[in-house]
Amino acid sequence: MAEQKATNIHWHAGNLSREDRWRDLKARGATLWFTGLSASGKSTIASALEQHLVHLGIHCYRLDGDNIRHGLNKNLGFSAEDRAENIRRIGEVAKLFADSGSVALTSFISPYRKDRDLCRALHDKDAIPFIEVFVDTPIEVCEQRDPKGLYKKARAGEIKGFTGIDDPYEAPLKPELVLKPGVMSVEQSVAACLDLLRSRRIIA
Ligand code: ADX
Repeated sequence: MAEQKATNIHWHAGNLSREDRWRDLKARGATLWFTGLSASGKSTIASALEQHLVHLGIHCYRLDGDNIRHGLNKNLGFSAEDRAENIRRIGEVAKLFADSGSVALTSFISPYRKDRDLCRALHDKDAIPFIEVFVDTPIEVCEQRDPKGLYKKARAGEIKGFTGIDDPYEAPLKPELVLKPGVMSVEQSVAACLDLLRSRRIIA
C-alpha cells in the first residue's frame, strides 16, 4: 500500500453523489481488468470491446500497459516494485473513470495477485464494480506469436525479468471471467464480456 505523504489535506465531496451522476448521465461505471501474459491477446480483445461499446453509445476508455508506459507511467520499469506502482496508479485511474460513469478497460499484464487484489479492494471500498478478466493464453502460444520479438530477446538474455520467462505470472484464483484466445475468436471473447456486463446490469 502506498504511503500517504501529504498532510493537511481534506476530501472535497463536490455537489453530486455518484448515484445522481450515473442516473443523470444514464451511465453505469465499472472497471474491466484484463490480465494475462504479454501477447496473450488482452489489448486485441480490449480494443474490439471498446469499439463495440462505443458503437452502442456507451462511454468507455481503454488503458493499455504499453501506452500508459509512454506517458503517465514513463518513469516506471519492470522491477516488482515498479510493476506494483504501475498497477496501483492504474487501479486509481480506472476507478476515477468508472466513478465518472465510464467503463474502464485496463489491459496490463498485472502479474502479481497482490497488486490486482489491491485494485479490487480499492473499487470494493466504494462499491464500484471491478471485473477481473483472465486472458488465459498458454505461454507456449504467446511465445510462438511473439509479435514484438520480446520473448526471443528474453530467451537470448537480452531482456531480464520478462514475465513468464524469468519473472512470475500469478494467474487469478477467482476471476469473474476466463477467456481463452487460443480456442476462442476475438468476437467470442467480446461477446462473453458483453454478456457479463449485461448480467451485472452495467450495460442494458
Ligand atoms: S506490468 O507487468 O507492469 O503489468 P505492463 O502491462 O505495464 O506490465 O507492460 C507490459 C508490456 O511491456 C509488455 O507487453 C511488453 O511489450 C513490454 N515489456 C518490456 N519489458 C518487459 C518485461 N520485463 N516483462 C514484461 N513485459 C515487458
